[in-house]
Amino acid sequence: MKRVAILISGGGSNMIRLLQDMTGDHLARPVLVASNDPQAGGLARAAQMGVPTAAVDHRAFPRDRAGFEQALLEPLLAAEPDIICLAGFMRILTPDFVQRFQGRMLNIHPSLLPKYPGLDTHARAIAAGDAQAGCTVHLVTPELDAGPPLGQARVPVLPGDDAATLAARVLVQEHRLYPAVLRRFASGDRTPVTL
Ligand code: GAR
Repeated sequence: MKRVAILISGGGSNMIRLLQDMTGDHLARPVLVASNDPQAGGLARAAQMGVPTAAVDHRAFPRDRAGFEQALLEPLLAAEPDIICLAGFMRILTPDFVQRFQGRMLNIHPSLLPKYPGLDTHARAIAAGDAQAGCTVHLVTPELDAGPPLGQARVPVLPGDDAATLAARVLVQEHRLYPAVLRRFASGDRTPVTL
């Protein structure tokens, strides 16, 4: 059984979908949900679902990314995860941290990478006049949002879309894609999932 830790910063809707999926014949089980924000709504949801939680407030480490990561490593290493899923985790991680988990840390990003790494992905897709948008699950490497893709899902960009309507359409697909990728990844298969 693979042990999965999930890192979040917000409401954690992707996290919830991953937790819901990790039952029955799934080859992985959740061992920790951790956040850089003690107020992240997803922490309470995870606790309700019986998953251990931890919070390390990044604001206690001003201009000290390494110090924040050192503190985050405590609960994370104690949970002995085989796989780490970033699910709406909005802190940039240092190369040291990433390399420690390289090959077993996944992220979901709300664009069709390599298009639109970073923030404001939906507004950028609309501004570019793209006919399609979507989301990508990829392995995390030190370069932001640039690791090998493990899956992608596409949606149309519709006339009249704004960033919020497009984000909502993409999020529906995120909730399908991330569990599908994690299932495949936990079985040792890295063939990209296409939805
Ligand atoms: C999701 O749309 C995810 O793709 C995005 O944040 C949202 C989190 O929602 N992640 C990033 O932008 C990472 N750079 P959630 O907390 O409801 O899962």
